Amino acid sequence: MDRNEPILKLNHVSKTFFSDDGREVQAVKDASLSVFPGECVGIVGESGCGKSTIARMITKIIEPTGGEIILDGENIAGKKGKALKAVYRDIQMVYQDPYSVFSPRASIGTFLSDGLVYHGIMSRTAAAKEVKNLLRMVELPEELADRLPHQLSGGQLQRVVIARAVSIRPKVLLLDEATSALDVSVQRQVLELLNRLKKEFSLTYVFIGHDLAVVRSIADRIVVMYAGLVVEEMNSCDLENAVHPYTRRLLQSVFSVNDRNRKVIPLEDMSVSGENQQILGCPFAPRCPSALPECAVSCPLLKEVKGGHLAACLSLE
Ligand SMILES: Nc1ncnc2c1ncn2[C@@H]1O[C@H](COP(=O)(O)OP(=O)(O)OP(=O)(O)O)[C@@H](O)[C@H]1O
Ligand SMILES: [Mg+2]
Repeated sequence: MDRNEPILKLNHVSKTFFSDDGREVQAVKDASLSVFPGECVGIVGESGCGKSTIARMITKIIEPTGGEIILDGENIAGKKGKALKAVYRDIQMVYQDPYSVFSPRASIGTFLSDGLVYHGIMSRTAAAKEVKNLLRMVELPEELADRLPHQLSGGQLQRVVIARAVSIRPKVLLLDEATSALDVSVQRQVLELLNRLKKEFSLTYVFIGHDLAVVRSIADRIVVMYAGLVVEEMNSCDLENAVHPYTRRLLQSVFSVNDRNRKVIPLEDMSVSGENQQILGCPFAPRCPSALPECAVSCPLLKEVKGGHLAACLSLE
């Protein structure tokens, strides 16, 4: 694996859905991003901005309408048979709701060993022995191997899902709101676990979330989405220097450790999905304090602000 080449690359990826009544929803528009081996790229934005659609395209649950997704140098489109199974192995996913991935009657041990056996990593016997190591890896007691999913808490189940995903040694681990349903203290512990596992196994993460404070706590680089568009991308350590008015608004909505006097202004309840956005111009313009007349008719492209920091905003040009 060349650490200077992206392990995952989205080139101008779009996804348009058509609802039953024929309406078009442009869930993702011309999104490009690169994920390098060993880094955590965080994707953040409000509900409906297209984060999970990106995750579902990367995991091949749905196909893009346009653009290409390159995993380790190869386009994942059109893969079949063994090559498709390899994609399913190389990209593991952790969702918000751990309950949805368990079969209610299969033990935790079976759930963990099934992954190893299915992907041809170990024999059934070796996988059964490995279960205890996997539980220890995610700081759970070995006795949980014989329990059924409903006998574990949400936080414990999410640790089990993470253990299974990591056991397969994926090239990319995609975490879609993986800690959003957990209590704040459990969420913090799971984030710490993810940070430790990332270092220990040199893992590469795409961490999707709506809470900027959570995303910044784990991501090395942050991609900000608004209404299907990537509007800003920067290193996490540059977040306080974000320039896009939407990212600035998101920053106001979270507590700042660096600037304790800054007032936290909660985000107004406003869905930004592809369904209710304006067709022309910048989708953020109606909410934007810096909007110019041209923002209503012209959609800005991502441009470099300075090395590795990109933003799409006409008021910055
Ligand atoms: N299968 C589908 N058919 C029609 N529209 C869809 C479909 N899947 C998603 N959408 C629409 O695409 C847009 C983006 O949805 P997506 O689930 O990617 O948002 P999200 O950023 O993950 O939001 P959340 O934070 O609530 O999970 C929304 O407007 C959603 O209604
Ligand atoms: Mg989502």
